[in-house]
Amino acid sequence: MELSKEESLKAWQANAAFWDQTMGDTSNRFHLEVVRPRVNELLDVQPIDFILDIACGNGNYSAYLAAQGVNVVAFDYASEMIRLAKKRWARFEDKITFCIADATEEESLLALRRERPFTKAVSNMAIMDITDVEVLFRCVNRLLTPEGVFVFATQHPCFVTRTEKYMTPHAYRGEAIAGQPQEHCYYHRSMQDLFQVCFRNGFVIDGFYEECYGKKETPDVIILRAVKRK
Ligand SMILES: C[S@@+](CC[C@H](N)C(=O)[O-])C[C@H]1O[C@@H](n2cnc3c(N)ncnc32)[C@H](O)[C@@H]1O
Repeated sequence: MELSKEESLKAWQANAAFWDQTMGDTSNRFHLEVVRPRVNELLDVQPIDFILDIACGNGNYSAYLAAQGVNVVAFDYASEMIRLAKKRWARFEDKITFCIADATEEESLLALRRERPFTKAVSNMAIMDITDVEVLFRCVNRLLTPEGVFVFATQHPCFVTRTEKYMTPHAYRGEAIAGQPQEHCYYHRSMQDLFQVCFRNGFVIDGFYEECYGKKETPDVIILRAVKRK
């Protein structure tokens, strides 16, 4: 798509301190009310889980998992985000391994492999920020146990956009949180493109929600559970 990964990364590096301050320890109201409840439901965390947190930002969701006793590997390509996450969550250093990794690079993703495969993977509000997601879905499938699950929440492609285009993948600049230092890059994919990237890469979808912020009739977010096919 027409906005480069280099531009995207530059914006997230510049936004990292603001993001860390704004999301804090618990994340914001939007995440707590719109994103987390359905992500939690579909992820159905168990103490024996070993979870990959994709594009973890300041690590607030990883910490939420770690507080339940779960072991997590969390990654983001913005080194500044990871530096701040490590600092903020030093008390969970036995539970969370924070890594710098790029979700668009196969080698970078496969280097996240540990001594055992991940039982689950999660990504909160980041799929729409990632330049290309084909490699990510392919590698997550390889990193998961048989029948492992990948739960992701992302911007609703039908109702949340700054452009008139829907069918054609395209990129645009925008703001996730009012006042962030720099606009960042969004990468629009239609609903069928999102479903098909799952199907092409060995997943079936067995959970799906559309969620609204406040009382309105147009949803802001979709939350999907993709299960690794046998
Ligand atoms: C909207 S933030 C969400 C962060 C976190 N998941 C949360 O819920 O607070 C999007 C994140 O995606 C990360 N990101 C974007 N493209 C990425 C890539 N190619 N690889 C890894 N992280 C990426 C950004 O650095 C940023 O931290």
